[in-house]
Amino acid sequence: MSSIQICPSILNADRANLPHEISRIASDADWLHLDVMDAKFVPAFTFDFNECAKIIAASTLMVDAHLMISNPDDVAPEYAAVGAKSVTFHLEASTTPSQTLKAIRKTGSRSGIAIKPDTPVVELFEFMDYADMFLIMTVEPGAGGQSFMRDMMPKVRVLRDLISQNKGQQWIQVDGGITLDTILEARLAGANAFVAGSAVFRADDPGHMVQALRERAMSAQL
Ligand code: DX5
Ligand code: ZN
Repeated sequence: MSSIQICPSILNADRANLPHEISRIASDADWLHLDVMDAKFVPAFTFDFNECAKIIAASTLMVDAHLMISNPDDVAPEYAAVGAKSVTFHLEASTTPSQTLKAIRKTGSRSGIAIKPDTPVVELFEFMDYADMFLIMTVEPGAGGQSFMRDMMPKVRVLRDLISQNKGQQWIQVDGGITLDTILEARLAGANAFVAGSAVFRADDPGHMVQALRERAMSAQL
């Protein structure tokens, strides 16, 4: 199965002091997960495109952009163009998902497509040829610090089985409520990329927490 990727989300970090926050996880994390919210697709607003471009340029970690925005089709490849090495948009917000995935890939970045908890996993199947990552939301998108929805695990299992049958290399990411108590369950279901916001940035030592999450995920007997 694909290698483990730990992706701390800066949503609940000290956003006024991002370089410092990033430095606390830079040698332990695989990606910096950047939650982009536009106050339309979700009620909250985080960063506009120019702010994201600055964060991406300044990050010593590769950026995994999670676009919780309406109308992502034109702008998603722009995030890749300014340096995000992975760009994920929501199926529910897209009118041309296959083309958008292809356009992201064309830049050399990884293409990702996400579904909210109410969206059936079967809706992702047709993107097997165009997506490098599928994001199964394990909370309702929009805020950090919510509880892990373990009833999303069957979606992860179904998708992992399909990827295995196709001998695919796609990653499965889970986002929301990932902690030391939940990461193993998500790993056992077949996820390999784990977003963790509050678990990491509310820890006394965020770098150490990233290591602990990785070790817990690696302890899975698959
Ligand atoms: C929620 C965001 C998440 C959020 C996760 O809409 O997509 O990335 O930061 O936060 P935790 O890990 O606290 O659930
Ligand atoms: Zn996210």
